[in-house]
Amino acid sequence: MFEIKAKDGLGRIGKLSIGKKKVETPTLMPVINPNKIVIAPKDMSDYGAEMLITNSYIIYRTQKLKEVALEKGVHKMLDFDGVIETDSGSFQMSAYGDIEIENKEILQFQKDIGVDIGTFLDIPTHPDEPRRKALSDLEITLERARESFEFDLNLNGTIQGGTHLDLRKKSAEEMSKLPFTVNPIGGVVPLMMEYRFSELVDIILTVKGNLSPARPVHLFGAGHPMLLSLSVLLGCDLFDSAAYVLYAQDSRYLTSYGTKKLNEMKYLPCNCPVCRKYTAQELINENDQKRLELLSSHNLYATFEELKIIKEAIHEGNLFELVETRIRGHPRLLLAYRRIKDYYDILEEYDPFTKRSSIFYTGEESNLRPIVKRTKDRIKDIKSKKYDQHLFFGKFPKELEFTYPFGQCEMEEERRDKGDPELKDEAIVKVIADYQFGPNVGQKLFHDVVVKRSKTGMIRYVFDKNGAMLATIRARDGLFTPNIEGLKRLKDIIPYPRYRIIVDDEAAPFIKEGANVFSKFVLSLDNNLRAYEEVIIVDSKDNLLGTGTLMLSPREVKAFERGMAVKTRWGIDKNTTPENQIEE
Ligand code: GUN
Ligand code: ZN
Repeated sequence: MFEIKAKDGLGRIGKLSIGKKKVETPTLMPVINPNKIVIAPKDMSDYGAEMLITNSYIIYRTQKLKEVALEKGVHKMLDFDGVIETDSGSFQMSAYGDIEIENKEILQFQKDIGVDIGTFLDIPTHPDEPRRKALSDLEITLERARESFEFDLNLNGTIQGGTHLDLRKKSAEEMSKLPFTVNPIGGVVPLMMEYRFSELVDIILTVKGNLSPARPVHLFGAGHPMLLSLSVLLGCDLFDSAAYVLYAQDSRYLTSYGTKKLNEMKYLPCNCPVCRKYTAQELINENDQKRLELLSSHNLYATFEELKIIKEAIHEGNLFELVETRIRGHPRLLLAYRRIKDYYDILEEYDPFTKRSSIFYTGEESNLRPIVKRTKDRIKDIKSKKYDQHLFFGKFPKELEFTYPFGQCEMEEERRDKGDPELKDEAIVKVIADYQFGPNVGQKLFHDVVVKRSKTGMIRYVFDKNGAMLATIRARDGLFTPNIEGLKRLKDIIPYPRYRIIVDDEAAPFIKEGANVFSKFVLSLDNNLRAYEEVIIVDSKDNLLGTGTLMLSPREVKAFERGMAVKTRWGIDKNTTPENQIEE
């Protein structure tokens, strides 16, 4: 089971539940080679690992390991009680071609040793494989996928298709129909080894566009910290790292901005326990085994540190900014990021409408963010003026001076066209309403009103002429949260089904009392809505129930069985929370 807690771009902070165990995503599974353990599984939680991946095929064909695993189970064998995922030997098969095992045999074995998530025997397609072979291998992979469900085991459904995007699409569509727990994107290791990141972006976004958004996505074989933020932005949730050991074997030092050769380093630019204790020279002077352990340890710390940076960026809503700094770590990453311009529709659909932090312009790639075109489209018809505006370089309505994203946008130079002191407060609130709820809503919503400013001089409250509060402007982003009276007006002004989320009549009494709306109770919703917009909650007959913040994009609301769809602010029968009071 998977649910989303926070979003930015296509990235999400999620909660993956496997039985009673829970993992917060995005996360990374350190790869454990049971024949060659460098960092003990029991120490992995010190790094932040909640989940490991090991290879069931290696265990299966190593007699001693096989006996222990069958007798005690894989958790006791590795001495790790978190989530253990196993791969199936597919990768050995593609690399060495000598694997002698059947799909059902390795699935049964994974079940027998008690893994939390198993993997069926997919055929990894090499990126340079011609289409005909890629297709015939995909057909075998899909056939094996379909025969994998007789074992009562949580499963990875690996998506193949090589660099043939039509095959990736077909693969993602077919996998969506089958009850897999996670869908890895497979066959991409050679692309990453060769820095073919543009093709990787095409594959990830093609898969994301055709796979249910309720599925966690694992980018198989990705564990270099440099690549993590971009992959998360594009919607990947899980990663695995053999890199921490493989690079250490080669005396390479991982950072979020690239790989360094230890022998050429003088300072260790990191504050992990290893880098605090050792100088580069001391590490170089260690014996091979000790150096391997220390460097693997640093590499793993650096990787988990980057994951925390990424999660904080999702929380704050500045993941695009983070990625735009990370892609400067390698010119091929910079080039790859520019591919997002061909995937505007999917990025725009999932990217939230408002964010906690300001927008920073980091360079010309910032123009490719979906918010630039979205804003242009949204604003062109408001205020009966034509705005041919560009978020970063255009003119925008002066009334939106404090409204997201215009008022929270930092450029190289300070913006000069500040608000117009001649503007009347009533005119300002009307334009903000037009921007937020659609052209011509403001005029009707805020007809004959009294606008009040806060102590700090910001427009804050709109009342009707009888003193009933219609809406509040949120200080953070200058957007409205409607109160009940304003909500009633909005519902009358905006024709059904715009701006609405329609819930099951069974849930209606609870929502009227202020309960949150869970995805499973949603009958339908306006597909033009975006995550973090304020919505009108109604029952099946368009009776008003309340209002709140939409937490997911519409496609996610429809796909998820679990989790919150709307964080309710007001239920129509319960609207006396402290937010209804004016702050003095
Ligand atoms: N490890 C890295 N890539 C792959 C893949 O495509 N399939 C499987 N099963 N494991 C992998
Ligand atoms: Zn370090």
